[in-house]
Amino acid sequence: MRKKIAAGNWKMNKTFGEAVELAKGIVEQNIPSDVTVVLGVPSLYLNKINGIAEANDNVFVSAQNAHQELSGAYTGETSVVMLQSIGIPYVILGHSERREYNCETPELLKHKVRTALDNGMEVIFCCGESLDIRKADNQEEYVRNQIKGSLEGLSKEDMKKVVIAYEPIWAIGTGETASPQQAQDMHRSIREYLADMFDAEVAENTAILYGGSVKPSNAEEIFGQIDVDGGLVGGASMKVDSFTEIINSFS
Ligand code: 13P
Repeated sequence: MRKKIAAGNWKMNKTFGEAVELAKGIVEQNIPSDVTVVLGVPSLYLNKINGIAEANDNVFVSAQNAHQELSGAYTGETSVVMLQSIGIPYVILGHSERREYNCETPELLKHKVRTALDNGMEVIFCCGESLDIRKADNQEEYVRNQIKGSLEGLSKEDMKKVVIAYEPIWAIGTGETASPQQAQDMHRSIREYLADMFDAEVAENTAILYGGSVKPSNAEEIFGQIDVDGGLVGGASMKVDSFTEIINSFS
């Protein structure tokens, strides 16, 4: 059985006090035993929020990025060794905002994924097309290339530690969501591609999350699609009530 995952990405939001309050509100919830909750926390707060998450066996903390090197003269960066040293289990890599604003290429992300996996972290690898690509109906090929560019060469063992998050850029923070059918079609395409790249077992066991304007009113229908194993949620993960509703949207 694949994991069911409700992941939040707080991006560059929240003061320290607000972040603590939000995390405390989430860990207090009665989370279904088969749902894994991941909180994508600003790096400055990771250690504190990780301590709070310990109170709930279903809640885990994720960094939103990590550097491809283990240490060195990279001012302002965070390495996976640092993340590991404070017990952070997950890292989000390849978010479209980092690809766009920080020029993260598939090659760079391949390096980051390798470094993260080699150092014991689980990776939430993001992919997704722009509106132009969707309009040209090239989205499946584009996303497959993103996956090929960064995940090719991983072993089946590595893939046990990889979660894929499909986040169409046109649906991020816009209020416009992919329809449940559009999400299902892409998730199926990704799963078929994983079967080609690796094998049927990897395809069957890899969790694929949908991200892009997930909210309490649409989560149940999206999560109900056969190849959708949960969500990576921005805006609606930053309030206890709405994220709790989303956590409870798995059937
Ligand atoms: P929104 O849920 O705010 O659209 O953000 C999605 C996202 O980018 C999560 O990583």
